[in-house]
Amino acid sequence: MNAAIRAITRSAIDNGLEVFGIRYGFQGLIDDAISPLRARDVGGIVQRGGTFLGSARSVEFREHSGRVQALRCLSQRGIEALVVIGGNGSQSGAYALSAMGFPVVGVASTIDNDLLGTEVTIGVDTALNVTLEAIDRLRTTGSSHQRAFLVETMGRDCGYIALMAGVAGGAEVISIPEREVAPEEVAQRLSAAYQRGKTHALVIVAEGAKYGTDTLMNYFRQHKDAHGFDLRATTLGHVVRGAAPTAADRLLATRLGVHAVDLLVRGQTGVLSGWSGSALVATPLAEISGRTKAVDSSLLELARILAK
Ligand code: F6P
Repeated sequence: MNAAIRAITRSAIDNGLEVFGIRYGFQGLIDDAISPLRARDVGGIVQRGGTFLGSARSVEFREHSGRVQALRCLSQRGIEALVVIGGNGSQSGAYALSAMGFPVVGVASTIDNDLLGTEVTIGVDTALNVTLEAIDRLRTTGSSHQRAFLVETMGRDCGYIALMAGVAGGAEVISIPEREVAPEEVAQRLSAAYQRGKTHALVIVAEGAKYGTDTLMNYFRQHKDAHGFDLRATTLGHVVRGAAPTAADRLLATRLGVHAVDLLVRGQTGVLSGWSGSALVATPLAEISGRTKAVDSSLLELARILAK
């Protein structure tokens, strides 16, 4: 997100615009936590994860009264347009302001990559690579010590990171909210992996899966003797966020940020700045708000075949 903030600020200044940064997202808009951003204010951040402006899940903004207050703050400061960097919740908020008549452009950013209107979102490449590095290490440990590992990834409502990291990491089982794997089947697939001569076995579980870490670990504890192997769990959690962004993420953030400013300058608002078919695209917020992009679940079958 920092790379996007930098790109938006400097390209807007280049277009003769005055730029303000809002601390802590929509909450900062309600609280008037707004200050000028000059070119030097966004120096030295392109290589830093997260967002130096801060982010928040604002309860107040979900109410109509909160959004009215946000628009009041913008109008009092003479701010004429807004760029919203974020995922589904943020873009639904962006749409709400746009539907109230305020010019808004969204920038697609979430580690879950579940936003419509873009093939890829800012942050997912970095989070996926951090997740994969952890999986690779656990796989090495698993091979050395003949152990099975369960790795819980981020993804409360969406299995994208678990699915992609599972495919790229060669997991034996991938369980995601969109396609659950019951404990009995997990056990059967891990046993089969050992019987095929594997020295390790990996189960990747998305945070939001119903058959999640606790359920699976309880099942394995209860049936340990029947399986003859030990399953250890590692929850990656928020450690996969906040890493220095990959080159792909910096470039995507830079392109989407500059594109967002171009759209604003051309008066094309109420849209999301995204990337599709190797090109920058603008999709109406009305089309993406409140909806999510499905994962490619055919990859689950591919992962099962490749784990053989
Ligand atoms: O939506 C992005 C995401 O990182 C999910 O993958 C994760 O489940 C969630 O946010 C975590 O949110 P919080 O930090 O508010 O618990």
